[in-house]
Amino acid sequence: MEVIIRPDAQAAVKLTAKIMADDLIKKPDMVFGLATGRTMEAVYAELANLHRNCGTDFSLAKSFNLDEYIGLPSEDKNSYRYYMNYHLFNNVNIDLRNTHLPNGIAEDLDAEGPRYEQAIVDAGGIDMQLLGIGCDGHIGFNEPLSSLASRTRQKALTPETYEQNSPLFDNPEDMPKRAFTMGVGTILDAKRIVMLVTGAEKADVLAKAVEGPVTSMISASALQLHSRVVVIVDEEAATKLEGKDYYNWIFQNEPEWEPYRSM
Ligand code: F6R
Repeated sequence: MEVIIRPDAQAAVKLTAKIMADDLIKKPDMVFGLATGRTMEAVYAELANLHRNCGTDFSLAKSFNLDEYIGLPSEDKNSYRYYMNYHLFNNVNIDLRNTHLPNGIAEDLDAEGPRYEQAIVDAGGIDMQLLGIGCDGHIGFNEPLSSLASRTRQKALTPETYEQNSPLFDNPEDMPKRAFTMGVGTILDAKRIVMLVTGAEKADVLAKAVEGPVTSMISASALQLHSRVVVIVDEEAATKLEGKDYYNWIFQNEPEWEPYRSM
């Protein structure tokens, strides 16, 4: 795992989007694993900007989102399909037929997870998984105690997640209490993982995920088991990290990061 600390959220977002765009140039038919949430809105705005102004080409790309609320149809403005169309897909030249989310209104809720897993396999697997982190340490909606081997399935959301996300609904009580989410095991199958964490309210959980023990109580700590993870953070989120100096030294000295240091 590598940790890159940028001075502020804007710089962290720009670096995340640039890494995604550079991987897309190297592999135009990239399969992205995508996340939603407040943190990602700025990443998608930056990718749209790179598409408009630098010609970043999504025409061959595919995507699989981490999660979707159960019970919300795609046209509901709180569904993650609606979010993705609004923040990214409608603003770049991706073929909507190549964009995938779990079906929140699937007739057979038990069959939806395996169906989604198979679709990922059929697409050749996820090349890069983009992640945020919840205040309870979740990645996707893998709430505390999710098995580190879990696959896409239904999950009950914690009160903490409810508190974090319900203000985004016009009527907070309309937020579904269950969601489909890729599992921790599904996420760990991605070839590369980029997690973006910004803001002081994430400092405690970030330190637990990166420097604490691997535990199903903090799903994001499972990323320590993956061989190619970069965690991009801003100064505010980094305040509780003990190894800051070391992480900065790696960023300054590792040749892979040379093109990104001046951003
Ligand atoms: C949503 C997702 C979640 C969010 C996390 C952070 O698709 O994967 O794990 O990344 O809840 O959300 P924000 O960015 O709103 O703090």
